[in-house]
Amino acid sequence: MNKPTKGIILAGGNGSRLYPLTYGVSKQLLPVYDKPMIHYPVSLMLQAGIRDILIIVSNADYIPMFKKSPIKANAKISFVVQEAPLGLAHAFILSEEFIKGHNVCLMLGDNIFHGANFDSILKINTTNHIYGVKVKNPSDYGVMKFDNDECLVEIVEKPKEFVSDYAVPGLYFFDGTVSDRAKRVKPSARGELEIVDVINSYIEENKMLYNFLENVIWFDCGTHDHLLAAGNYVQAVQQRSTQIIGDVMI
Ligand code: TTP
Repeated sequence: MNKPTKGIILAGGNGSRLYPLTYGVSKQLLPVYDKPMIHYPVSLMLQAGIRDILIIVSNADYIPMFKKSPIKANAKISFVVQEAPLGLAHAFILSEEFIKGHNVCLMLGDNIFHGANFDSILKINTTNHIYGVKVKNPSDYGVMKFDNDECLVEIVEKPKEFVSDYAVPGLYFFDGTVSDRAKRVKPSARGELEIVDVINSYIEENKMLYNFLENVIWFDCGTHDHLLAAGNYVQAVQQRSTQIIGDVMI
């Protein structure tokens, strides 16, 4: 199974849907209830046993701000600047030296996951692995397409026609060939290197496993409403149970 020991968190991008909040600060430094957003993906990596973490940021000025966040000393955190938001798959080219052919976990810096069995789900991840979450608005996401035998055949980015209601959230596991695959991807119509193209290259070779996250709550904090909803959720869980979501001291 070769579990990854390296993780990449994508904390670049423009954050334009969160303007004016993100004019002067990185989206991933904004508060989600009682912690900066970046704590949530870092915490997930630590839960998955990953302690060598590269954070991709959009501006070198943000690095000292990220460094001020109290993250457990026993994780090695490094940073790389992505000068322009060239797409999620661009991360694998930027981090080729960091990956060095190892298995790697990629997480979007504005995604939050929480669920009863999530720890055990993370522990069984296999080398090339993605997840599916049932959503009400699949056309907003990369969506899983299945054939008549219910085999995964493709991920379709923001499908205009119904494909399935299983969106692929921002948590992915790849083997060490991922940087070479990303280099072969051509920019999409919106000018980005799309992660769906990288995932599809694995699916075509029958090398991508997946499972559905049934009892897991997933937030993408990219809009004002979702950012607020995520903060309210974290508040409710933490005030009504002993759980801490986004704990970076583990
Ligand atoms: P998005 O939410 O797709 O993009 P964004 O953060 O730029 O926001 P907006 O669309 O509102 O302008 O990005 C998802 C995550 O990936 C987020 O944490 C930012 C990160 N990201 C990068 O690090 N580099 C990139 O090139 C892109 C497109 C996103």
